Amino acid sequence: MKKEAAEKAAWWKESVFYEVYMPSFKDRGGQPGFKGLRSALDYLGELGVKGIWLTPFLQSPKVDNGYDVSDYRMIDPVYGTLDDFKVFLREAHERGIRVIMDMVENHSSTEHAWFQEARKSKDNQYRDYYIWTDSPNNWESFFGGTAWELDSQTGQFYYHQFDVQMADLNWANPKLVEEVLAVLRFWLDIGLDGFRMDVINFLSTDGIGPDNPLRDGKQEHLHDIDRPGVKEAIRKIKSAVSEYPDRFIVGEVGSDKIEVLSSYQSEELLDLVFNFNFGSIPEFSAKRIFDELLSMEELMPGYPSLFFGSHDMPRLMSRLAENQPARAEALAVLMLSARGVPFIYNGEEIGMLDAVARTFKDIKDIQARTQYALALKNGCSDADALVVANRHNRDKSRGSMPWDHGENPILKVYKKAIALRNAGPVFHYGTYTDLSFRDGCIYFTRKYKEVLVKGYFNFGETAIEVVLAPGEKVLLGSEILQPDGYLVVQVN
Ligand code: NOJ
Repeated sequence: MKKEAAEKAAWWKESVFYEVYMPSFKDRGGQPGFKGLRSALDYLGELGVKGIWLTPFLQSPKVDNGYDVSDYRMIDPVYGTLDDFKVFLREAHERGIRVIMDMVENHSSTEHAWFQEARKSKDNQYRDYYIWTDSPNNWESFFGGTAWELDSQTGQFYYHQFDVQMADLNWANPKLVEEVLAVLRFWLDIGLDGFRMDVINFLSTDGIGPDNPLRDGKQEHLHDIDRPGVKEAIRKIKSAVSEYPDRFIVGEVGSDKIEVLSSYQSEELLDLVFNFNFGSIPEFSAKRIFDELLSMEELMPGYPSLFFGSHDMPRLMSRLAENQPARAEALAVLMLSARGVPFIYNGEEIGMLDAVARTFKDIKDIQARTQYALALKNGCSDADALVVANRHNRDKSRGSMPWDHGENPILKVYKKAIALRNAGPVFHYGTYTDLSFRDGCIYFTRKYKEVLVKGYFNFGETAIEVVLAPGEKVLLGSEILQPDGYLVVQVN
C-alpha cells in the first residue's frame, strides 16, 4: 500500500460533487435552468454536496446538448441570463457549495462566429482557428464515420472528432489559445470555482498526423489523441486558472490506461482526472471495482476520482445485475467513504433507471443517431439499426429527475454517508493502511492522524458478521452484513 506524506489540503478533496445535467434538470415545479437550480439548492444543501458540476449551459444549437458551444460568453436563453447565473452562483456560495462548469474547448459549434468567419475564405483571419485540409487522412469521428467534412464554400475539409457540426479548434494556433484562456478568465472573474474540461486529452495541438492503425477491424485512436503539445496546452490552461486562488480543474481524459490518466494529473496540469475504468464498468463486478481502487492507489500519484454514473453511460441502477437497491446503497457508501473525490450524477441518489427508446424518433442523442444512420447505410434493417443505436444511446441516463420519490431509501443512505464524510477529515485525507478483497468482500482501513476507520462491503453470496473490538463504534451499516451489506466503523 502506498505510504505517502500528508495529503495537501484543498477544498475539492473535502467535497462531494453533484453533476447536474442541464438539458433535463428541472426543479420540483418543472422549472429548468438557473431558476430551477436556485430552487433546488435547498435539496442539494440537505443532501450535503459541497460542489456542483454543471454540464454546458452556454449558447448552443444543442446538436450535442450543449457540448457544441456557439458563444463562450453567453448563457443559452433556455437556461436564463448571465444575471440568473450570477444569482445562482451567489446563493450556492452562501450555502457553502462551490460550482464548476463544463468547458468544451476541444471543439466549437459550426455556428460559432469563429467558424462562420473561418469558412468564408482560405485567407480569413479566423481560418486557422480550425483544422483544414485538401486531402483527409483516415481519422474517424468518435461518434462514427469519417472525422472530415467537405466545406463546399472553400472546397476544403474541416476536422471534427465528434459531430460534423462540432468543428475541432486548432490548438497549434497561439491566437486561438489566447482566446480560450480569455474565456476561462471571463468565468473565473465572475467567481466560478473551476472547470470540468471536456475531452481534454483530445486537443488538436499538432496539426494533422499520420493515419490511425486498425486493430481487429476497428480504428485505434493512436495519432489523434494524447498528441505532442497537449500537456503544454493544459499547462497554459492551468496557469491561467491559477491566476485565481483556490480554483479547481477536473479533466475528462479519454483513456483506459491508468498510466495515461496519471500523466495528466499534477500541480501544473489537472488537479483530478476521471477514471472511467472505475466509473463506467458496464456490468457489476466487485473484483473489478476493487482492482481499480487498488490501481488508483498504486499507480496514480495524485488524488483519485470516484463515480459510478454520468450523462455518458447507462444508469448505475440499470448496470447492477441483481439486488439493486441494496447493491446501489453499498456502492454509494463505498464511494463516499473511500479515498478520492466522489461525483454523484443527478438522479443516482434516488436510484433512477435507464429509459429505453422504442422508436428512432424518440432518440435525441447525436451519437446514437449517427450510429443508426451508419447501420442503415451498411444495410441493416430499421429494427436492427434501432438495436445498434440503443447500444450507443446516451439518452438512457438523461431523463428528468422525478421529485415525487418521498422517503426514498437510497436517498437516505446517500444523505447519511455524505454527512459522515463531511464530518471527518479521515474520509478526506486518510490514507489506506489496508485495502483488500476476500470472498467477494472489499475491506479497507483508513488512517488520519490518530483516527482509524474501517469499511466492510459484502458483495459475496453469504452473510458475514463483524465482531467489533472494544472501543469500536458503528458509524454506518450493520455488523451482520447480508450480501450487498456494508459497515463503516470507527476504531478509536
Ligand atoms: C464528452 C461529453 O461528456 C459528451 O457528452 C460529449 O458528447 C463529448 N465529450 C463531446 O463534447
